[in-house]
Amino acid sequence: MRTYLVTGGAGFIGSNYIHYMFEKYGDTIRIINVDKLTYAGNLENLTDIEKLPNYTFVRADICDKEAIEKIFAENDIDRVVHFAAESHVDRSIRNPEVFVETNVLGTAVMLNAAKAAWELPDGSFKEDKKFLHVSTDEVYGSLPEDPEAFFYETTPIDPHSPYSASKASSDMLVKAYIDTYHFPANITNCSNNYGPYQFPEKLIPLIINNALSGKTLPVYGDGKNVRDWLYVMDHAKAIDMVQEEGVLGQRYNVGGHNEKQNIEIIQIILETLQELLPDSDPRKANVSENLISYVTDRKGHDRRYAIAPDKIKADLGWFPETMFKDGIRLTIQWYLEHGEWMQHVTSGDYQKYYAEMYQ
Ligand code: NAD
Ligand code: TYD
Repeated sequence: MRTYLVTGGAGFIGSNYIHYMFEKYGDTIRIINVDKLTYAGNLENLTDIEKLPNYTFVRADICDKEAIEKIFAENDIDRVVHFAAESHVDRSIRNPEVFVETNVLGTAVMLNAAKAAWELPDGSFKEDKKFLHVSTDEVYGSLPEDPEAFFYETTPIDPHSPYSASKASSDMLVKAYIDTYHFPANITNCSNNYGPYQFPEKLIPLIINNALSGKTLPVYGDGKNVRDWLYVMDHAKAIDMVQEEGVLGQRYNVGGHNEKQNIEIIQIILETLQELLPDSDPRKANVSENLISYVTDRKGHDRRYAIAPDKIKADLGWFPETMFKDGIRLTIQWYLEHGEWMQHVTSGDYQKYYAEMYQ
C-alpha cells in the first residue's frame, strides 16, 4: 500500500486533494496529513475523511525538523505532496516574515527529511519515492494585456509580492535538490483555484460571503486585473497525474485557459446567486451590484496571469474538465449549503483581519 505524506491537507487545495485521492484510490493508499492548523487550516474540511482507517492527521509545523523527521522515521513514506504554505498575497504584504519561515524554511525541512529518509549509501534514492512541490503561477510575475502572452515553464521567474517571492524561493530549493542530488521531485505551477472549502479572504469566497450578508464588495484598483481560474478538483487531478506519470525533475504548468477580469468574476457571482437563491430566502434582497465598491489598489498588484498548459496537455493528456460556468455554480451552491462552515471560519480572528485589511 502506497503511503502519502500530505502537508497542509487541512487547507483549501490540500483538503480537496485528499478527497480526490480517497475517491480515486479508496483503501489502496494511506494518507498522513501534517498540518499546523493556522487560521487557514480547518479540520472541518475533512470530517468525512477522519474516520477512514487509512487516514491519519498529525498536527505539526513543517518548520519543526524533529516532528517531520519523526514522521519519516515511523512511516515508510512513498510520496510527499507538499501544499503547506502561507498563501495569501495581502497578508504577505502586511507581514512577510512568516511567509519566508513557512514557505522557504518549511520547504527546506521537508526536502531534507525526505532526502535523509530516501537516500541510499551510494547517493542514489530508494525506488519509487517521489516528492511533489505544489507552487503557483505567481512566481512568473505579471503579463501584459496581450492575449498572446502566456506563462510557460521556460518563462523566467520574476515574483513581485512577498508571497510569490517566497514561493519562487521554495521552487528554487526544490530545483537545487533535483540538480544537485538528483532528488526525485516535480514542481507544479498552477493558476488561481476556486471551489469548496476556500477561506473567505480570497476573492471568490469573500465576494460570495459579503454579497449574502449585504456587505460591500471591495474591488482593488480598476477591477480589470486578470486571473486564470481553475476548478480545484482539476488541480488535484493534475497533481496526481504529474506525480504518477510526469518525468521526474520536471516542472509542469497547470491552468485553465479561463482568464477573467475581477469585475467579471464579481458580476458572475452576483448573477449566479440571484439565480440560485429562492425568492423566499431573505439574503436574496442583499445581492446587488450596488454593493460593489472600488477601493485602493493592492500594492504591487500583478496585472494579468495566464498559464499555457501546453506541456501537461501534450505529455500527460491533462486538461481542465470543469467549465467555469459549471464550476462556479457548483462552488456557489456549496457555499449556500455550508453556511455553518462559513460562520465557523469567519468568527474570531477573521473579524479582526477583515477590520484591519478593509478599514
Ligand atoms: P491554504 O492557505 O488554504 O492552506 C494552507 C494550509 O497549510 C493550511 O491548512 C495551513 O494550516 C497549513 N500550514 C500553513 N503553515 C504551516 C506550517 N508552518 N506547517 C504546517 N502546515 C502549515 O492554501 P491553499 O490555497 O490550499 O494553497 C495550498 C498550496 O497551493 C500552497 O502551497 C499555495 O502556494 C499553492 N497554490 C495555491 C493556489 C490557489 O489559488 N489557492 C494556486 C496555486 C498554488
Ligand atoms: P486573490 O483571491 O487574493 O488571489 P491572488 O492575489 O493570489 O491572485 O485575488 C484575486 C484577484 O482579486 C486579485 O487581482 C486581487 C483581487 N481582489 C479584489 O479586487 N478584492 C479583494 O477583496 C480581494 C481579496 C482580491
